[in-house]
Amino acid sequence: MTAVFFNPLQDGYVDDPWSHFSEMREHEPVHQLAIGGYSLFRYDDVFALLRDPELSVDDRNIDLDDERAQLRAEFGEQMEFESILGMDPPDHTRLRRLISKAFTPRTIEALRPRIETMVDDALDRMAEAGTADVVGELAFPLPFDVISEMLGLPEADKNQIRDWSGAIVKTLDPIISEEEMRAAFHANQNLDGYLGEVIEWKRQNPADDILTAMIEAEEEGDRMSPKELRDQVNLLFVAGHETTVNLIGTGISELLEHPDQAATLRNDPSLDSAAIDELLRWVSPVQFSRRITLAEIEVRGVTIPPHTFVQAALGSANHDPDKFGPTAEQLDVTRAAAGQHVAFGSGIHYCLGASLAKLEGQVAIGRFLRRFPDARVEDSRWNGRINLRGLDELKVSVA
Ligand code: HEM
Repeated sequence: MTAVFFNPLQDGYVDDPWSHFSEMREHEPVHQLAIGGYSLFRYDDVFALLRDPELSVDDRNIDLDDERAQLRAEFGEQMEFESILGMDPPDHTRLRRLISKAFTPRTIEALRPRIETMVDDALDRMAEAGTADVVGELAFPLPFDVISEMLGLPEADKNQIRDWSGAIVKTLDPIISEEEMRAAFHANQNLDGYLGEVIEWKRQNPADDILTAMIEAEEEGDRMSPKELRDQVNLLFVAGHETTVNLIGTGISELLEHPDQAATLRNDPSLDSAAIDELLRWVSPVQFSRRITLAEIEVRGVTIPPHTFVQAALGSANHDPDKFGPTAEQLDVTRAAAGQHVAFGSGIHYCLGASLAKLEGQVAIGRFLRRFPDARVEDSRWNGRINLRGLDELKVSVA
């Protein structure tokens, strides 16, 4: 067997993780990572891992090596973040049930007219200027403003918060430097402080929004603690915009690079819903999820010990020809099976914001394509993140 190493720090990786994934799927689909833990690259293994009820998502169940145990000792308690993403049942079940009431398909669909207005306003500004940064003017502010309005947050300094949450989500990368860890710690303190103030403000100014509903649950005492409240707000806020920005930004960039696909979608709005699934599969805005073993497990003959971090390479699963056929490495907005992607994960932690993200993506991408049939990419810059991979800037000419 060829010896292969998965090294996301290699030059060119962020431009093209796909060739690395393809090599791993073929030669070492169950791979022991140099940094500890394992990574799974094939669709079937990723899908089974995400849905396995015997696995945990709570990082405290990982056996750490000395170096990381030291980092945890230094940052651990302050960084301890009790969001549902890192919580097992029964706490996960209790909190997810409370929050999910605000994310039913009907509640989300009711946001469509508001989202259309926000998108059209952004497109009007772009049309007037003739050039635009699609990320800075549409892909980032749209999901940010939508989740802020849903939560009922006051107007805020968007750029400041964008910097903080950017530093925080860097910790989702499989490898992170000590400097990045410190930056994330400070950013988290700042964001936490800001959200703490917002929660107190909202207690005095209740309204018809998610934050008020969550505060009511917390004030009843036995359903949600103050720390749980703060951490769920933090998760919704960060997950609400840090992921969808990559779907919209990278999605538009990919369509502009595949003019035949852009034309197919532009000419047939009935494809909007299926096409957004294909873009989710193709772009995989969250490239990795994870689980932690509590007992020994075996995957394709490889024994993974208890208390081990196992990474699910969602992007790799989404490009697996064993699942999506010989055209898996092609963008096809008419693909019938696109909806089987694992871009939103699977199982009990399946993305709570999936319908919202799809709606935002459909409206933003569909309207952009139809408004600017001659849009051309002038320049773009990756955000350098391995997990929440996306563009920091996408300069286009729309004239
Ligand atoms: C394109 C955009 C998005 C992508 C690709 C995405 C992806 C994901 C993934 C991969 C997971 C983990 C699933 C697992 O491990 O099985 C997740 C969980 C989650 N997402 Fe999203 N997400 C997106 C947008 C959103 C939005 C807009 C929100 C909220 C407003 C949101 C809120 C959440 C929450 C709360 C969880 C935790 C669910 C749980 O642990 O039970 N996400 N998402």
